[in-house]
Amino acid sequence: MHPSAAHPLTYMSGFGNQFSSEALPGALPQGQNSPQRPEYGLYAEQFSGTAFTVPRSEARRTWLYRIKPSAAHPRFERLERQIPGRHAGPITPNRLRWNPMAYPSTPTDLIDGLLTLAATHGSEQASGVSVYLYSANASMQRTFFTADGEWLLVPQAGRLRIVTELGVLEVEPQEIALLPRGLKFRVELLDALAGGYICENHGRPLRLPDLGPIGSNGLANPRDFLAPVAAFEETATPCTLVQKFLGELFSTELDHSPFDVVAWHGNNVPCKYDLRRFNTLGSISFDHPDPSIFTVLTSPSAAEGVANVDFVIFPPRWLVAENTFRPPWFHRNVMNEFMGLITGAYDAKAEGFSPGGASLHSCMSAHGPDDATAGKAMAADLQPQKVDNTMAFMFETSQVLRPSQAALDSDHLQSDYDACWAGLSSYFSRGHS
Ligand SMILES: [Fe+2]
Repeated sequence: MHPSAAHPLTYMSGFGNQFSSEALPGALPQGQNSPQRPEYGLYAEQFSGTAFTVPRSEARRTWLYRIKPSAAHPRFERLERQIPGRHAGPITPNRLRWNPMAYPSTPTDLIDGLLTLAATHGSEQASGVSVYLYSANASMQRTFFTADGEWLLVPQAGRLRIVTELGVLEVEPQEIALLPRGLKFRVELLDALAGGYICENHGRPLRLPDLGPIGSNGLANPRDFLAPVAAFEETATPCTLVQKFLGELFSTELDHSPFDVVAWHGNNVPCKYDLRRFNTLGSISFDHPDPSIFTVLTSPSAAEGVANVDFVIFPPRWLVAENTFRPPWFHRNVMNEFMGLITGAYDAKAEGFSPGGASLHSCMSAHGPDDATAGKAMAADLQPQKVDNTMAFMFETSQVLRPSQAALDSDHLQSDYDACWAGLSSYFSRGHS
């Protein structure tokens, strides 16, 4: 049995809260951030997730009290093995869909198991997103951080134990983990295999959307986000630290554990959220709202109301709208839509979109239900209906997601995706129906 299974982890509840946590009593300074000599002989270190001078409501930072400061590392050297898919493929306006990745046959940790599926290649990683699939069969024996963005990790298969500088998170499929830009972490597998999706957000940190007329409750509720409590390792065992910087991997060797934070306080913290706790809202009269009604988290761009990226889910829900085409409607969108499926079936597609698979509908690419789904929806005798046993999601971004060369070369890319709309029936008749 894994030690953590015997001792359920403790979490702190809330999103964006100014948390504080200490693993030794009195380790957290009171009344100031950087005392001359912190308790227990610790060093104080600030971990900033936003520029110092952003509006207070946007500021993310955490003070860490640790055995050795992060600065205690030798030079980073570029790794020979880089993440596949760093280079964008040829420009294509086509709708694309991928079957699930195969699991590795040789020992592969999450970093070696990454494939860049698509990326916006925002200027110097200050905006946009990169989308990865991961497929792993081994725990990381090394530590990782990315200077390029925040990770929104969406497990599809296999439970993960994520050891971070601020404490430990355990996540399972239908939960997500948010890992701030620059946070050091190690991903251990709690099952034999692990696979899923990662949205690396190069823009402003993900936050809860405003609710407007919805009111003060609903969608993802802040109290359901769980942050870890402080936990530290005190070892002199050498440790490899890998960082991603402008898309490339670099490595250095530490003479100590990077998970040596004894106490911390602030709001630049990792957290997890169970998507099954999403309070799904929808129409109780006719038509259904835009899928933005299902936004879990959003990273705003500089333009009001335009997301750098929205994380949107399609969870189980009741469909009750009268005289309504109930599946996601046919549409063309100025935004770019990357979709994944965690479990079950997606209600716009009868087949071809499997859990672990992915689709990409770029700016102005026309899409919607396939013929079987559309025909069934138009012929249905509408009754209240539960869409159940499903969890699909979308990373919706205002910048075009360019598929990587590796993703286009992959044998998981479906060659016949357009066929699901090729046979769309014509119901047109000059006679009134
Ligand atoms: Fe769409």
